Amino acid sequence: MKFLTAKQLKELYLQFFKEKDHAILPSASLIPENDPTVLFTTAGMHPLVPFLMGQPHPLGKRLANAQKCIRTQDIDEVGDETHTTCFEMMGNWSLGDYFKEEAIKMSYEFLTSSKWLNLDSKRLAVTCFAGDSDAPKDEEAARIWLSLGVPNERIAFLPKKNNWWGPAGNTGPCGPDTEMFYWTPNDIPAPSVFNPADKRWVEIWNNVFMQYNKNKEGKYEPLAQKNVDTGLGLERVTMIMQGKTNIFDTEVFKPLIEKVKELSGTEINSENQKSFRIIADHMRAATFILGDEKGIVPSNVDQGYILRRYIRRAVRHGRLLGIEKNFCKDVAEIVINNHKMDYPELEKNKQFVFKELDKEETRFKETLDSGIRLFSKMAEKKESISGKEAFLLFQSHGFPLEMTKELMLEKGMRLSANFDKEFNEDFQRHQELSRLATEKKFSSGLADTQFETIKLHTATHLLHAALKKVLGPNVNQKGSNITAERLRFDFSYDQKMTQEQLKQVESLVNDAIKRKLPVTREEMSIEDAKAQGATALFTSKYGEKVSVYTIGEFSKEVCTGPHVNNLSELGHFRIIKEESVAAGVRRIKAILAPEPQEKYMSH
Ligand code: SER
Repeated sequence: MKFLTAKQLKELYLQFFKEKDHAILPSASLIPENDPTVLFTTAGMHPLVPFLMGQPHPLGKRLANAQKCIRTQDIDEVGDETHTTCFEMMGNWSLGDYFKEEAIKMSYEFLTSSKWLNLDSKRLAVTCFAGDSDAPKDEEAARIWLSLGVPNERIAFLPKKNNWWGPAGNTGPCGPDTEMFYWTPNDIPAPSVFNPADKRWVEIWNNVFMQYNKNKEGKYEPLAQKNVDTGLGLERVTMIMQGKTNIFDTEVFKPLIEKVKELSGTEINSENQKSFRIIADHMRAATFILGDEKGIVPSNVDQGYILRRYIRRAVRHGRLLGIEKNFCKDVAEIVINNHKMDYPELEKNKQFVFKELDKEETRFKETLDSGIRLFSKMAEKKESISGKEAFLLFQSHGFPLEMTKELMLEKGMRLSANFDKEFNEDFQRHQELSRLATEKKFSSGLADTQFETIKLHTATHLLHAALKKVLGPNVNQKGSNITAERLRFDFSYDQKMTQEQLKQVESLVNDAIKRKLPVTREEMSIEDAKAQGATALFTSKYGEKVSVYTIGEFSKEVCTGPHVNNLSELGHFRIIKEESVAAGVRRIKAILAPEPQEKYMSH
């Protein structure tokens, strides 16, 4: 083993895969584009879904990168030794190129070779898929591990719950995986028999063999293209490379923890340690979300709600540590300095990050103390509080539901069976938003490449082009969100659109659809794409070669796809809403109806 910082480890990983002929991709945005099934990018494979499904990638069949990720599923685990909600995932992919043997051999070489990580092979163990009625036991993976010298007692076979990855949505590519574990204690020799339930064995790498597609009927059908999708947690492996037993002792988190110590004037002890760790993780997550190019701000829906939860929870834990003044900005500044080399958008959006953090912190602090008092009153002489009371705390004091649950847990209260239901009923009544729907969105994952969303994605390109034609070439995409029912498109323009302009846009789009224009895809360099007049936004995330989608003479855009092949598949385009979302940004919601509709706008 050699001592490595996170930065050195990342460089080494990318260098290794470059030498194995992989193209290195930049990290994509944290906010998935045109993917209704997830709120955040939770793994490096998310932005690659169309390519895992068979579309050729412009940079080839072997790819690798380090991707910024947010995984809210692990939020309750934050505070232990190894869990974070914001992390960097290193990954390598084979799109129908190498498969099990080469993938496993490369992982083993990178981990154990003296040229690379030089980890002690005697402290390694692996898990493989045990097999069930959908797919057989993965004897092949186990045989490859054995051939590399991993003994039988260190290979555990586990069921789908543990050793199967994806689809993160309801349908899509998935398959058995093999996971690598490392024995972390320095002073205790690794047991000869591997027990995956022993937390001292820390999972460090996952190799997924994506050879199935889960279809709408829930059946696993073999994929024509057999892929490899791997993920290696940067923070965890950094911890191991530094001989530490928790991630917060590495340079990735330590300066954040030190800052919180300084701001609170409090030393860490076993009682308050969790608060330090929660603040460090949540401020890192909040800074990355706010610093992303998509301009998410705290709100009560979708990504904005998660962001709000992070900030408010950190503020409450800051209060527990005795911090009185606003502190989020101070911690965020360190996050930005730590990561701005790899994620320049953080530095670029620094003032925005500071302003939004400060605003949310100030706003929440106005109601935090009285909210805590109200909670204590509700909790007096009771075993539990109800979902209705939790909603009251949310509505009057801005306590996210999860925060109230945390307070209840701290008091040793139990949740009644219909706690969430009661909260949701009131919440829906007041907010028109189903919390369950939000939960579903961020617990699920994979891009839903269903036909409806593909059609709406193509319609989004048409809308973008039509807006430029009607309102002028300075109109640019600011955001896009597609569900199976509708598209939502945000663009730069500083006035309300007139009925006339809206009709013109609709007619242009419907005219293109009626002409049954073909949609074609070409690969070219980003420079050539721009020279040909292609609309190319968010270009920093693309590699040097990009896909360009052309719709007749109507539209040309750099995009990863997928799209329909011909506009005749789209149906009738109808704008259902036009509104303002922020200064200088308008939002259009539109649908595709099977038949031309008589009724136009519903303003
Ligand atoms: N998608 C897999 C994971 O997230 C491997 O990258 O673990």
